[in-house]
Amino acid sequence: TEKKKLIAGNWKMNGTLEANDALVRAVVAGIKDAKCTVAVCVPAPYFAQVQMLKSGSALELGAQDVSQHTQGAYTGEVSAPMLREFGVRYAIVGHSERRQYHGETDALVAEKAKTALANGITPIVCVGETLADRESGKTEEVVKRQMAAVIHTNGHCISEIVVAYEPVWAIGTGKTATPEQAQEVHALLRKQLAAATAHAERVNILYGGSMNAGNAASLLAQPDIDGGLIGGASLKAADFLTIVAAAQ
Ligand code: G3H
Repeated sequence: TEKKKLIAGNWKMNGTLEANDALVRAVVAGIKDAKCTVAVCVPAPYFAQVQMLKSGSALELGAQDVSQHTQGAYTGEVSAPMLREFGVRYAIVGHSERRQYHGETDALVAEKAKTALANGITPIVCVGETLADRESGKTEEVVKRQMAAVIHTNGHCISEIVVAYEPVWAIGTGKTATPEQAQEVHALLRKQLAAATAHAERVNILYGGSMNAGNAASLLAQPDIDGGLIGGASLKAADFLTIVAAAQ
């Protein structure tokens, strides 16, 4: 059985009630015949709005982060049980912007993935090298280290996660990894997962980093690219729907 690809939009810190309304309505209308799973990862204040707008459709709701704790004195944090109350199915964890601007470590990202899984939320675990890493030949070492922490902490549950390979130098820069560059890393991540689970084929490994309406089809044609995590292009319904249509 072919697994479905996953196209997930990451709105990042963008949106207004008015803009979200138009965007989600257009996406809901445009995915009626989609062959892949489609999700939007929205800022927490908009969960209720998007939950309402997507009701009755196949659109899935995602968060952009989740606390490693389930409740208590953690000011500013949002828990996995809270996400569940709004019908959230996915939570991005370890996005490079969280690692870079909020000091998230491999160990913390692994804990967040574990808490998400324990509470019925699928973590979309992000890994990826910086430009300096790539230029010094450390791409493999860096993504393997990031992935190893998550595998170690999550044990046999590892086949339940989604992975997103996001080369930091490709995020928001308009510079996309070539399909061959991306495939090379996806294949090594798959191999690393296969050493930990008999179900590595089941794991959706997404590509993220300036994926757009023009380059999505060639990236998604690679054997180990099982979808995309889309930033900028997920804010425009037409572009996002073109990417969805490319994921068959
Ligand atoms: O999570 C999404 C990625 O960071 C990609 O963002 O498509 O704007 O480059 P981008």
